Amino acid sequence: MMATLKKIWHWIDDRSGITEALQPLLKHPVPPDARWSYVFGSATLFCFLLQIVTGIGLALLYQPSSADAYASLNYIMHKAPLGRILRGIHYWGASGMMIMMGVHMIRVYLTAAYKFPREMQWISGVFLLVLVAAMGFTGQVLRWDDNGVWSAIVAAEQLGRFPLIGKPLAHLLMGGTTLGAKSLSRFFSYHVFLFPGFLFLFIGLHVYLVIRNGISEPPKVGRPVDPRNYRSWYKKMLREKGQPFFPFSAWRDVVFAVATITVIVVLAVYPGAPEVTRPPDPSMLHTSPRPDWYLLWVFALFALMPAQIESFAIVIVPPLVLFLLLALPFIRNRGERHPLRRPWAIAGVACVVTFVSSLLYIGSKSPWAANFEARELPPSIVASSLPEVKEGSRLFHEKACAYCHKVKGYGGDVGPDLTHVARRLDARQLRIRIINGGHKMPAYGSSLTTEELRKIVAFLKTRK
Ligand code: HEC
Repeated sequence: MMATLKKIWHWIDDRSGITEALQPLLKHPVPPDARWSYVFGSATLFCFLLQIVTGIGLALLYQPSSADAYASLNYIMHKAPLGRILRGIHYWGASGMMIMMGVHMIRVYLTAAYKFPREMQWISGVFLLVLVAAMGFTGQVLRWDDNGVWSAIVAAEQLGRFPLIGKPLAHLLMGGTTLGAKSLSRFFSYHVFLFPGFLFLFIGLHVYLVIRNGISEPPKVGRPVDPRNYRSWYKKMLREKGQPFFPFSAWRDVVFAVATITVIVVLAVYPGAPEVTRPPDPSMLHTSPRPDWYLLWVFALFALMPAQIESFAIVIVPPLVLFLLLALPFIRNRGERHPLRRPWAIAGVACVVTFVSSLLYIGSKSPWAANFEARELPPSIVASSLPEVKEGSRLFHEKACAYCHKVKGYGGDVGPDLTHVARRLDARQLRIRIINGGHKMPAYGSSLTTEELRKIVAFLKTRK
């Protein structure tokens, strides 16, 4: 029996050359002290493989038409055997992939592994970053619930503001000027054919380059990269101290990948993927898109930005960030690699991480969404016993002002906190603001009676 199997394997191996092809992959020598900090790239790859497998499973059950998508997702979640777990793995796998990719990128940046001769590795990595973000975004739209759809609409609107190419590009992406029935089948094609195709291509390039240029050795203070002699130095170092990737270094990748996948599967069982919310309803005006966390911070950023600079920022910031990322290895591809000799790199990473995590924190409270659960102000906060002030505070809640404005911690965050508004505005100014509204504030001129307006202003005048 064994002999027969061996024979079959020999035949396959001889005719196809599998061992020969895998040899360089498995046996390429790696620097001896490349340890645990090197596992994140391969963990990203393992997450990707997990996404492919679960993605194929989901695609078998999913209906990419706007009439059926929502129902087919509910079918996956509640009827299909193992459907809930399949979707859970795909959902948490996406998050896992984002995290691993982010950490991998930070590690590469901090240890300046992008320097000579690995510039192209970094550049292919930036393309992978963009592609993975695009996968996350299109994946959310496929959910076809109101979060996914509204996020796409908001993003499309922002894209449309890009001069010249914005509108045609949005049109191309969505198959129309706005998100509609046609858009879903397009997003489906992007998510399962187009972007994965490019992902395979760039992952192939990325891995090929790792083998061609070798894994960067851990940096050492006082050992700068000099393109004139780096390659010969690296070769000599590998000849003397290098170890074959398999099994010497590969076991760490395997252990870490297994741990990562275990965490993903556990999360897929409990708590599982979030339920799909409501089906999208184009007549809903007061919607508040809440994309998944890895895009939430972008939404938070644009929601917090003053409206005047928003259009400007959309045009400038993303291309600038992309340009800087691509230019990084050319700005300085030689010199010290150790983070201790590159304090600005540490400061930069700290800034970006703080910036993104505080935006995530803010985003998790979605200040751009009216707070429909705002409660009425308790009498202790209404600092007056005058009946018109009391009436005014009641109207403040009844007329939905509290959905958007906070008074002493009660209410929403869309508009400014009005706890001390009377210090800024007098009665006349208050009336003007309320009657005319403003950016993201409805004009109440036609929906309040003079009496109601007077009472609300009387209430606000007490907020000193
Ligand atoms: C949908 C959300 C929303 C609702 C509802 C809303 N507002 Fe506003 N409000 C805002 C926003 C946003 C601003 C800031 C507008 C700007 O700067 O252009 C604002 C500004 C104001 C200001 C000026 C504050 C300042 O410090 O300059 C006042 C006063 C005000 N609103 C009162 C009210 C009252 C009273 C009501 C209810 C009758 C109300 N708002 C309902 C969102 C809202």
